[in-house]
Amino acid sequence: MGSPGDLRVVVHAAVGLDGTTRGFTPDLGTYYGLASTWSEDVTLTGADTILAQEPALRAAEELPGPAPEGPLLAVVDSRRRVTAWQELRAAGFWRDVRRLGAPSGERVDLRSALAGFAAEGAGTVRVDSGGALTGALLAAGLVDEVSLLVHPALGHGPPWTGAATVESSFRLDHDRRLGEGLVWLRYEVR
Ligand SMILES: NC(=O)c1ccc[n+]([C@@H]2O[C@H](COP(=O)([O-])OP(=O)(O)OC[C@H]3O[C@@H](n4cnc5c(N)ncnc54)[C@H](OP(=O)(O)O)[C@@H]3O)[C@@H](O)[C@H]2O)c1
Repeated sequence: MGSPGDLRVVVHAAVGLDGTTRGFTPDLGTYYGLASTWSEDVTLTGADTILAQEPALRAAEELPGPAPEGPLLAVVDSRRRVTAWQELRAAGFWRDVRRLGAPSGERVDLRSALAGFAAEGAGTVRVDSGGALTGALLAAGLVDEVSLLVHPALGHGPPWTGAATVESSFRLDHDRRLGEGLVWLRYEVR
């Protein structure tokens, strides 16, 4: 299995030494600096990741507006929990935003969603997830690469794979020490 067509799906996450994605202060400058590695066509994220950002987006006095050269932001949100669409569109990172959901409210078919991006000409999807969406994608065999920025801290909550039972093996392709105790690891999913 693998992502549809020629599409490449990359998960990029900031993690603690225990593999968690929350409960520590991530080095956001380094994290987003590395995220530009892939110049993705689509940033794929989950509703919970966006909900965690909504208060800050709403509190912003001014937002720069859409980034015409930026990726599409696609949010898996079958339960229509995200409300800050206008602010997301104006946040200055994405050219446009899109909710992924079925009319009857069932869970999003992630393989079909990725096939849809590929059909629209996307070459790379970067996944921004605290774990739940990553775990679902991994469990479905839809991830090509995992990039972990490991922080010298312990966090809390589920690991970067969420609660999913995932059977994958990984080949280390790149490792690098960065800044104050950070380690960047890139794995190809076999
Ligand atoms: N450290 C990091 O790199 C990092 C990155 C991003 C976020 N975060 C943090 O992580 C937290 C959010 O992460 P999270 O793990 O709770 O949520 P998440 O990664 O945002 O994923 C939640 C989404 O996954 C979807 N989903 C889950 N299983 C699915 C399946 N089998 N099929 C289709 N869709 C599925 C759900 O869709 P429905 O809503 O449609 O059910 C939900 O919207 C926040 O606190 C955020 O700040 C950390």
